[in-house]
Amino acid sequence: MQSSSEIAPCWRAANAPPVLAQQGIHLWRVALVAENETVARLACLLDVEEQDHAARLRTAELRRRFIVRRARLRQILALYAAESPDALRFDRGPLGKPRLAGSQGNDRIEFSASHSVDWALVAIAAGRPVGVDIEQVRPIDDMLGLARQYFAPAENETLANLPARERLEVFFRLWVCKEAVLKALGMGISAGLDQVVVSPSDSPPRIVAMAQGHDPAAWRLELLRAAPGFPAAVAWQGQDAERGGGKSLEQFEFPADRV
Ligand SMILES: CC(C)(COP(=O)(O)OP(=O)(O)OC[C@H]1O[C@@H](n2cnc3c(N)ncnc32)[C@H](O)[C@@H]1OP(=O)(O)O)[C@@H](O)C(=O)NCCC(=O)NCCS
Repeated sequence: MQSSSEIAPCWRAANAPPVLAQQGIHLWRVALVAENETVARLACLLDVEEQDHAARLRTAELRRRFIVRRARLRQILALYAAESPDALRFDRGPLGKPRLAGSQGNDRIEFSASHSVDWALVAIAAGRPVGVDIEQVRPIDDMLGLARQYFAPAENETLANLPARERLEVFFRLWVCKEAVLKALGMGISAGLDQVVVSPSDSPPRIVAMAQGHDPAAWRLELLRAAPGFPAAVAWQGQDAERGGGKSLEQFEFPADRV
């Protein structure tokens, strides 16, 4: 899983609401840095539960990140749902994955959200599961020990055989790939990151094995650099996954000045 396996980052400004094709995946990048005045205006888009949650957070920085990412999630979903951002309601799937309440059928809007430090990503799909994860590459004590605990043998072998300077980066690339798939399945990581095995050497990365009888061949995984030092992955299910090609994934930048 060398750097050549990442999609070249290409975040397009979306001035008009983009049209989501049936097989398409839209990935939005959101900057969580914002002026106090912008944060205050975005807070008005949150529901009571979200506002209570924000109020309970310990620091102004945590509050700002939470408010901006939840407000941006609402603004992005509103582009597809023909609703105003503050009118959107959410429920959860059987394993805890947030869903847009009332969105059903083949055209239902599926989404996945992830954040790390001052970046967030939101992936959108029509009628099929999608998952996204972003992580900041940061030092980890006993990284190989952690990997042995959570990763599959083939993934650990790859890590152990890498030059030490490359290990941390590849560890996080594996992590985001596995978590993106688990988030698409709606499981989160509580069942264990070893529920998904990723081929570390293919480009794009390949899912080798999946929990719960899912067929890896029916899934697609893309690894990208969301920002310098922030690897990210998107996983989705669909027919194009079997063909392994095509331009299903489009990347957009949410305007940082939008309120
Ligand atoms: C939930 C979990 C996937 C988040 O991962 P993370 O790397 O800490 O954080 P990320 O920013 O990447 O993802 C967070 C988002 O994942 C989504 N999410 C939550 N539960 C999810 C699930 N079961 N499946 C898919 N996505 C989920 C939410 O949109 C969440 O955003 P929010 O924090 O604004 O609600 C991970 O912590 C986990 O699996 N935890 C164990 C289960 C758990 O605590 N669930 C709590 C919700 S009931």
